[in-house]
Amino acid sequence: MPAMIVAYDRQRGIGKGKEQLWRPYEMASDKERFRMISREMGTIIVGSNSLIDEQIDLIQRPFPKVDQVIMLSRRDKSEFTIPDIDIAHSMEEALEMARHDPLIIGGAQVYRAGLPYADRIYATEIDADLPHDEATRFPELLPDQWRETERTFVPAGKLNDDTESKKQNIYPSYEVTYERIARS
Ligand SMILES: NC(=O)c1ccc[n+]([C@@H]2O[C@H](COP(=O)([O-])OP(=O)(O)OC[C@H]3O[C@@H](n4cnc5c(N)ncnc54)[C@H](OP(=O)(O)O)[C@@H]3O)[C@@H](O)[C@H]2O)c1
Repeated sequence: MPAMIVAYDRQRGIGKGKEQLWRPYEMASDKERFRMISREMGTIIVGSNSLIDEQIDLIQRPFPKVDQVIMLSRRDKSEFTIPDIDIAHSMEEALEMARHDPLIIGGAQVYRAGLPYADRIYATEIDADLPHDEATRFPELLPDQWRETERTFVPAGKLNDDTESKKQNIYPSYEVTYERIARS
């Protein structure tokens, strides 16, 4: 069952150009949720813009807890020197290559290509207005196709009472799950 995971602000903004709207460590609960869900699913599908931005991580292994990483690109595999990454030239090809239930992790183009196939969406809805681009927004979900099944409020601040803990969220957010109820 293909799923998506995304974090967006009040206007559904997910990024600005190739940049993220926050650093992963600034939203520790979202980072933790991503880690847990991606590890459970085992295969992730990611666009070349989002993956290649992370050059430093890439050289080691971009998602160490994930069994399979599939990068979507229309370019030839020989153009990349990325270890342990499968390359697919379309969303359909990526879904066929997936060894486990795939998790589509963005960015904007890849969310648009993946939405018709997804059956579940794990969204972190950041309760803030952040300076994003029009081109990097997550699509609206049609109410006759998607149903909200879970919503948990996560306040801003430290993640627990441990004063030594550096884990924190700079914005409040809602961790929401949407399930598909129909296809157009
Ligand atoms: N907030 C979040 O949850 C989240 C998550 C991920 C990313 N982001 C943000 O999203 C932004 C990047 O999004 P983006 O739209 O620019 O890039 P993207 O979706 O990550 O990657 C786009 C690239 O993927 C390939 N591609 C896309 N659709 C394809 C298809 N159907 N078939 C084959 N290849 C395909 C193409 O690669 P080639 O050019 O190599 O052919 C295309 O240029 C950044 O701001 C990033 O921070 C946010």
